[in-house]
Amino acid sequence: MTAARQPIGVIGTGYVGLVTAAGFAQLGSEVYCVDIDADKIGQLQRGEVPIYEPGLGELIADNRERLHFSTVLDEAVEHARLLFVCVGTPPTHSGDADLSAVHAVVDAVPSSAEHALVMKSTVPCGTGRSLRRVLSEQGKGAIDYVSCPEFLKEGSAINDFMHPDRVVIGEEEGSPAGDAVAELYESLEAPLVRTDVASAEMIKLAANAFLATKISFINEIANVCEETGANVLDVARGVGLDDRIGPRFLQAGVGYGGSCFTKDVSALKLLAANSGYHFQLLGAVIEVNELQKRRVVAKLQRHLGNLAGKRIAVLGLAFKPNTDDMRGASSLVLAARLAAEGAHVRAYDPVAAGEAKKVMPQLDCGDSVLEVVSEADAVVLVTEWPEFLALDWSEVAARMSGKLVIDGRNALDPVVLDAAGLTYEGIGRP
Ligand code: UGA
Repeated sequence: MTAARQPIGVIGTGYVGLVTAAGFAQLGSEVYCVDIDADKIGQLQRGEVPIYEPGLGELIADNRERLHFSTVLDEAVEHARLLFVCVGTPPTHSGDADLSAVHAVVDAVPSSAEHALVMKSTVPCGTGRSLRRVLSEQGKGAIDYVSCPEFLKEGSAINDFMHPDRVVIGEEEGSPAGDAVAELYESLEAPLVRTDVASAEMIKLAANAFLATKISFINEIANVCEETGANVLDVARGVGLDDRIGPRFLQAGVGYGGSCFTKDVSALKLLAANSGYHFQLLGAVIEVNELQKRRVVAKLQRHLGNLAGKRIAVLGLAFKPNTDDMRGASSLVLAARLAAEGAHVRAYDPVAAGEAKKVMPQLDCGDSVLEVVSEADAVVLVTEWPEFLALDWSEVAARMSGKLVIDGRNALDPVVLDAAGLTYEGIGRP
């Protein structure tokens, strides 16, 4: 298996699959995309992009002649040797990863010494080994297997694909597919980590768990700052300038959301537990994050007293800006807690309101910031969309009936809010 720019197959057209497909098409590969969802494939064939990811639509349009979409595997198997597996691995009720979509792919690939499965989906450490066993049992032991975990972030996924911090390739000894994957990524000039399959799987889980730990750590520091009068923004800057720590993922806030951290931290904790090891640190990371999502309620109560009947405007629903993804979003916990306290919540998000309504149909969403802040007793900023950072706060103040603004992302300027006559409270800021 040689030669860069060889055609590839991409199985699964979610965030990871579509970005991988569009990215490799942009680098010059013919890409054969497969998904069992006929509606999604129909949309893609018509040039419509079923998810919101900045730049993805343009990249797909620019490379339309190199991107092929189908509901069946045949074309991908016919044209491509490397089949990138990008299917979902959501948590089951037990918190373990649901690998049924991965197993469906394994069942569907034909027996072939020519092909390799390249696992992009996040899977527990040990999955490669067990899939290898299943393939052998099905008489398809000749298929090669590579673990190539994805590190893209929603909202900046195209940039992450084009400028990866590293490319991790987990391969079996003597397998040619690892070289073929390395060649595909060569022009991106990223550091390559070539290792065994289990280590590659663990790198992905450990990276996400460490980033989540960094966030829970700074959130706890912020909570202590609130007790001691220190400012977490200065603390994070002072700490992050240490090369050994680094400045990123030290923004205190209302907790991390998204499907990946929530899922992967639990998956790693359970993976350890299932093999008899109690991963204490991750238990604390998860608990701190859950409490952090709820702390805003206590802040509101401190200022407003009983929240029954109070009008609270929530700015931002998506788990972070530049995405419509609502999975694991802190806004869901906050809105549900406020409703349980009897508050009336009105929310606005420039992109994610539709997705939010799917998971929380009773949520009252408005069409603009000024609409939802009207008559509000308090405003809570949950997602730091650029639109909110550029708001005219005097106009917001004029519409509100109260004065309180809780900045759940430390994204606003307290001086500006103060000048508008508003009472500002951030996370860990005096
Ligand atoms: C995360 C990882 O960052 C990616 O490297 C990984 O590929 C991806 O999961 C995955 O496993 O697929 P993502 O979930 O898209 O990416 O989003 P992040 O940018 O990491 O943000 C996650 C959450 O942490 C957001 O809710 C964000 O607001 C929060 N966050 C982030 C903080 O609260 N503080 C920070 O300093 C940084």
